[in-house]
Amino acid sequence: MSQKRTVLLAGLSEEVKHGLEDLLAGCELVATSLSLETLMDLPDVEPMLVLTGDPADAKDLAEVAQALRMRFQETAIFYACGQREGYNRKLQVKNGFTDAFLLPMDLSSLRTAVEEALSGAGVGKSFRSVKLVDIQPDTVLAFDTYVHLPANNKHIRYSAAGDSLDADRLERLKAGKGCSVKVSTDQIQDFYRYTATQLRALGCSEGLGATERRERMQSAVRDLLTGIFKDNAQESGFAQGGVWVKDCQEIVKLYVADGKKDDWYNRLLTLTSEKSDGYSHSANVASFAALFSMGLGIGNPEELAMAGFLHDIGMVDVPAELQAKDEETLSEEEAKVVHKHVESGLEIIRARKLTVPEKVLKAISQHHERFCGTGYPKGLAGNRIAPEAQILALADAFDSLTSLQPGRAPLGPREAIQLLCEKASQDATKVVVDPELLKKALTLLNAA
Ligand SMILES: [Fe+2]
Ligand SMILES: [Fe+2]
Repeated sequence: MSQKRTVLLAGLSEEVKHGLEDLLAGCELVATSLSLETLMDLPDVEPMLVLTGDPADAKDLAEVAQALRMRFQETAIFYACGQREGYNRKLQVKNGFTDAFLLPMDLSSLRTAVEEALSGAGVGKSFRSVKLVDIQPDTVLAFDTYVHLPANNKHIRYSAAGDSLDADRLERLKAGKGCSVKVSTDQIQDFYRYTATQLRALGCSEGLGATERRERMQSAVRDLLTGIFKDNAQESGFAQGGVWVKDCQEIVKLYVADGKKDDWYNRLLTLTSEKSDGYSHSANVASFAALFSMGLGIGNPEELAMAGFLHDIGMVDVPAELQAKDEETLSEEEAKVVHKHVESGLEIIRARKLTVPEKVLKAISQHHERFCGTGYPKGLAGNRIAPEAQILALADAFDSLTSLQPGRAPLGPREAIQLLCEKASQDATKVVVDPELLKKALTLLNAA
């Protein structure tokens, strides 16, 4: 592409020009002073980028911004300011600048933005708003991050792959409400990997105190379950059916696969999809069980993912019309057939000679036991049920409430747990999960 890259430098100081010298090399530079009068008289150029310094009269700044924006509607216009006094980035962006930088502090951000504007990257890409779970100032990101500037509806690169966000930039992201981080969809796998790695690191970081680790883990899981992708977290996103669940699945998959030779996740994925059409239910329960395990600090997340995959594998022997029926509406005979899926599931695991840890087998064998003792197959109650089985039962119920089901809209994560709490308090014979555990789950999702 041999497009001539013209950059208009309007009132840019020599110092700033010097700081950008290498990036501007090879561009055609057109320099002018900056005042309202010179703007009337600007040379006839089609710049790819406009870099402005302070206008001759600081009072004119807003008008200068607006005039430049009128003239160059589709162009990135950066304001590089040397005076802290009166500097207000938000205001300047509102006035029409694409972004504003306070120098010398923001020089590296300005350089990234200039590079971005000159490369033309970000054009024609699609983006998703994300939350960077457990981000710390020294965390190196393997993907680009962008921010969206509503003033001119553009995405500007905020950090490049390989960069870490320094404390100041992180603070700015947190402070700017309309300014969430975006990741381009072609780098979403790198983002999933980042999230999985953060969760893993939190799970085994010995450098942190127990309380700090628990809190950071809880906040990461909360982000994941309630809106790591802010655009999906709104009710409409949930109603559209499960994009956020797919995101959770991808992340848990990478979490489990991390550095392992035995790719059991994908083996089980194939096995469960060939064994039953409940494949997405199994994969969803696997993800939720792993995440609840992390967030509530109960059991081993990997084992719970495995249990989630396998818990209903015995359903393959149950006729589809019975599987589709609500538990309450089953006749005694039908219930017997459905209940058998627990035992036949364990038989399939044995017959396939799958290497499955003891705790996973136990969780599967008890996933329909109820805390109040009215479950099956054994009618175990209270703490006679393994904690892992309770997490599995929680994930199982959570999935049926938050996924698309005929005849009702899916609930959001908080509403789902809330409903389970209400049900448990209304009918003492239908307490599936320990009410204390439900309370903890609600706190996990609700905490500010
Ligand atoms: Fe089941
Ligand atoms: Fe299930």
